[in-house]
Amino acid sequence: MTAKQTLLQELPTDLERGRLPKHVAVIMDGNGRWAKRQGLPRIMGHRRGVDALKDLLRCCRDWGVGALTAYAFSTENWGRPLEEVEFLMTLFERVLRQELREMMQEDVRINFVGNLGALPRSLQTEIDRAVTATQQNQGIQFTVATNYGGRQEILQACRAIASQVQAGQLEPDQIDESIFERHLYTAGICDPDLLIRTSGEMRLSNFLLWQMAYAELYITDTLWPDFDRTQFHQALVAYQQRDRRFGKL
Ligand code: IPE
Ligand code: IPE
Ligand code: MG
Repeated sequence: MTAKQTLLQELPTDLERGRLPKHVAVIMDGNGRWAKRQGLPRIMGHRRGVDALKDLLRCCRDWGVGALTAYAFSTENWGRPLEEVEFLMTLFERVLRQELREMMQEDVRINFVGNLGALPRSLQTEIDRAVTATQQNQGIQFTVATNYGGRQEILQACRAIASQVQAGQLEPDQIDESIFERHLYTAGICDPDLLIRTSGEMRLSNFLLWQMAYAELYITDTLWPDFDRTQFHQALVAYQQRDRRFGKL
């Protein structure tokens, strides 16, 4: 943590505690460009990206944001060069192993969303271990989207519901939003109030398509490894200035 960040451990006085987002989602984009600008290989950007995520998680906990969901790897990211994909999988595994103790100390409850069964076996083992170990923690709900695709998530929910209908356990008329949501990977987690995307890209990239229906969008040109508490503070100030109407007047 930098000196400036240490100063920001308490909720800044210009933010209203009662109007903080309950759930922040983040598309951590721009690691590769960050590395390129420093003349480093792309993987160094991913390494630094982990530090930025750790600090954001701590900051959310310090400031009382109850849930953070981070997009770590999309179903489309398999299309990257094999070396980069392999590096990322190994990085996720190592970080999970190294950070478990700290997550326990900081009362973090971690869970994962995505098609986890297609991840390397050794990563699945670390995921299971971390999810099980932290499941009683209550400081913050931390969700990592890994091999996640919003369309795939919706499709697998449809398949599961169709099977129930076929088995005679459910009538088509009974399918409503709450039944549908129970079949999403995010069952039990409230929808994000605020989506932050770094590196200036104005798109969702297949992230939480259903859940984001009424999220406030905040896009910053800052590249992910440079996203710190000061930047998060700015995002929250912008969020608190929004008028969330949900279609009403
Ligand atoms: C985001 O950074 C991290 C992942 C997608 C895993 P990128 O790797 O997309 O970085 P840019 O967008 O190429 O700069
Ligand atoms: C979105 O970033 C996925 C993650 C941050 C994990 P990408 O870099 O993959 O998105 P696109 O390709 O710019 O849409
Ligand atoms: Mg990118």
